[in-house]
Amino acid sequence: MMSKNIDWSSLGFGYVQTDKRFVSNYKNGAWDDGVLTEDATVNLSECAGVLQYAQTCFEGLKAYTTEKGQIVIFRPDLNASRMADSCKRLEMPVYPEDKWVDAVVKTVEANIDWVPPYGSGATLYIRPYMFGSNPVIGVKPADEYQFRVFCTPVGPYFKGGAKPIVIRVSDYDRAAPHGTGHIKAGLNYAMSLYPIVDAHNQGFAENMYLDAATRTKVEETGGANFIFVTKDGTLVTPKSDSILPSITRRSLMVVAEKYLGMKVEHREVYFDEVKDFAECGLCGTAAVISPVGKINDHGKEICFPSGMEEMGPYTKKLYDALTGIQMGRIEAPEGWIKVI
Ligand code: PLP
Ligand code: COI
Repeated sequence: MMSKNIDWSSLGFGYVQTDKRFVSNYKNGAWDDGVLTEDATVNLSECAGVLQYAQTCFEGLKAYTTEKGQIVIFRPDLNASRMADSCKRLEMPVYPEDKWVDAVVKTVEANIDWVPPYGSGATLYIRPYMFGSNPVIGVKPADEYQFRVFCTPVGPYFKGGAKPIVIRVSDYDRAAPHGTGHIKAGLNYAMSLYPIVDAHNQGFAENMYLDAATRTKVEETGGANFIFVTKDGTLVTPKSDSILPSITRRSLMVVAEKYLGMKVEHREVYFDEVKDFAECGLCGTAAVISPVGKINDHGKEICFPSGMEEMGPYTKKLYDALTGIQMGRIEAPEGWIKVI
């Protein structure tokens, strides 16, 4: 293996075209075998279902180089099953979960030189996605679909990496009760673009969305779940039917309890409680764990005691344990690591 000549440590979270991607087409009720191709361009009908009615969903996971030099992926089976849930909710055909994981593995193998080295601060982000590809003009599901997997080396999602960020409470909603907030539909992200551009213009890194029905409970941000730590070291993380079931968050709940001996509460979290927490962070594949230093609620600031300089002590322990498992420094729970 010959790593590409890239300054890995200066990478942000952006797209870099890599060598190969996996493409499979669904037609007449069946998926074809799929191929790896060098062609990074998608050719579509002007009336493709995805272009008219946004029939598309995606996933995000990462490949890591471990301390021992192996290349591994973190819990791809959970991404496969979450994408199956997304497809069902969007009337799209499921790509069989075992084949889904195979396609991800094949894509990483075909781009092995693009996996950032251990300790570089970068990782290989993998983006599987599916969309309705044949012409659709009446509002209905497409008959034909394309499933693709590409990968791109990435650095930190938030500028500054591990430095605490400042976020704001959003006046916009991310997801309706009984809507699509629990799946990874492109449409959820389209409607978050206006609020995120506005947040950035006002100097905030992200939006904290509250539940749309009552505006009293914490949901998530545009691209990550919340974790909070109480003053006595309990991990508290919001439970809601309208947030994405983050694989990072589900993993952190296990890590907190089994590796760090912390108490874990997965429950509804009222915004009124937030001021009493000692630490706050955002967790996700892209975000990893990004500490939140301040939350701006319409001019009123909630400042966490952990401050604006570094992660709070529990957040740091969670971060070190999670990334330690992903990078092979700490033994992972059974089935969490797929070696390429
Ligand atoms: N919430 C949203 C809205 C996301 O887009 C993501 C990213 O995938 C997450 C949470 C975190 O999920 P995961 O940890 O599975 O990457
Ligand atoms: C991920 O963490 O994989 C996501 O899809 C989040 C997105 C905001 C990049």
